[in-house]
Amino acid sequence: MKKSIASAPGKLILFGEHAVVYKKPAISIAVDIRAKITITPSKSKTIFACDDLNIKSVMDFEKKEFHMLSGQEGIVEYIFEVLKLKHDYLNPINIDLALDLPIGAGLGSSAAITVALIAALDNYYNKELNLDEIAKTAHNVELNVQGSASPLDTATSAYGGLIFLDENSKVTKLSASFGDIIIGYASQRGNTRQMVAKVKKLKEHYPVLINSLLDAIGNITLQAKEIFDKEKLTKNDFQVIADLLNINQGLLDAIGVNTLELSNMIYTSRKTGAIGSKLTGAGGGGSIIALCPGKRKEVLKELQITENALEANFSKNGVIIHN
Ligand code: PMV
Repeated sequence: MKKSIASAPGKLILFGEHAVVYKKPAISIAVDIRAKITITPSKSKTIFACDDLNIKSVMDFEKKEFHMLSGQEGIVEYIFEVLKLKHDYLNPINIDLALDLPIGAGLGSSAAITVALIAALDNYYNKELNLDEIAKTAHNVELNVQGSASPLDTATSAYGGLIFLDENSKVTKLSASFGDIIIGYASQRGNTRQMVAKVKKLKEHYPVLINSLLDAIGNITLQAKEIFDKEKLTKNDFQVIADLLNINQGLLDAIGVNTLELSNMIYTSRKTGAIGSKLTGAGGGGSIIALCPGKRKEVLKELQITENALEANFSKNGVIIHN
């Protein structure tokens, strides 16, 4: 039986969230926590299933809709959108998703699922993988489903590594690797749309102040990029990156997207050995990233006392075919 398996990594924004909405640069990294899609032929209908989330859905391409047999429809919208673009309807398939990424924690789960499905379909139809095309299609899918989306998540999932998005939304893969990190994620999930609206409102009330904070975040990103342009980072480089993470956190707090839960995780991680830590993504809940060379176990253990936390390895690879 024909089978196609592809996986794509999640992402963390290192620098530039929120400022990126106002055309400032941003940097993200791929983490080796993946969405894995397996495609096999189906006898009757095209079916999507994810046991990890207890989701099962049947696709009806004639009526241009899908029917939920169990679970929430959130991620099925992305699946259906990809299928509309890429699936040969005459030959039904089973699509199975295995997901290690938590959903809605700002770790790019929808982008990882979208990218993995596009690659798995290309591979299923014996099409050669083209990362640029995969990243572009995945970004279009996110735009269609969400209405707006920066290309950062989908590019990071497709290419892997360290991704720089410039002020013209051009994506570049930087050459450096990244270090030992811990992700802490709050039980309260952040709502990206609401947090973007909150910053917009604050910016309308205090344009001069907030613009200068957004400029400062942009400058942090540019300073980090100079370091990441190196092939190999020294201990001192990592210390600079850590300082920049901490300064960026202060500015995110100032623009109103921090929460008590996130702050607690950030200070706990710093007390336990993180040299730099900040919230990552939209804030208002969601996740923090802690850079903790040689201290991962300690930071993980301490964060897990009160919140969810996981170890994350930098993923030089983006989307991968497994068969
Ligand atoms: O919640 P996330 O991880 O998708 O991050 C949102 C990042 C923002 O800059 C707040 C919004 C955006 O579209 O870039």
